[in-house]
Amino acid sequence: MQTKEEKYAALLPAVHSLMSGEEDEIARMANLAALLHHEFGFWWTGFYRVSKDDSLVLGPFQGPLACTRIQLGKGVCGTAWAEDRTVVVPDVSKFPGHIACSSESKSEIVVPLRSHGRVIAVLDIDSRELGTFDNTDARWLEKIADCVYGPR
Ligand code: SME
Repeated sequence: MQTKEEKYAALLPAVHSLMSGEEDEIARMANLAALLHHEFGFWWTGFYRVSKDDSLVLGPFQGPLACTRIQLGKGVCGTAWAEDRTVVVPDVSKFPGHIACSSESKSEIVVPLRSHGRVIAVLDIDSRELGTFDNTDARWLEKIADCVYGPR
């Protein structure tokens, strides 16, 4: 069986080829969400984009319905945005202010996407198991997220 590390490494060329074939950011996010979601069997995989009114608005995703707006500093997504860092949550019930879009979600990772030094979107992934995400996921997902807008 492939390790997580090997799985991400094997996926990277597919990510590059998806991104090089299309420059529209929504199309890139849509296919990237689908690729990660189906490759890893996550519960929810998608993007929130920073909108003009200074909230996060739901973007392309795979999985069940999700909340459409998240304010700066709220939930895991709003925290990753406000603090400009990847947030790994092994147990969402222990994260103060976690926004439960689905009661099935047990652990989560949120990775910021930057352009010209500013966070302009986040990649949010939820798992139905506790402790799914660690530093390996953070490192690889940051690399993958970078591909949407270019190097950070
Ligand atoms: N749990 C997230 C909200 C988005 S859903 O997981 C899709 C949060 O706390 O920001």
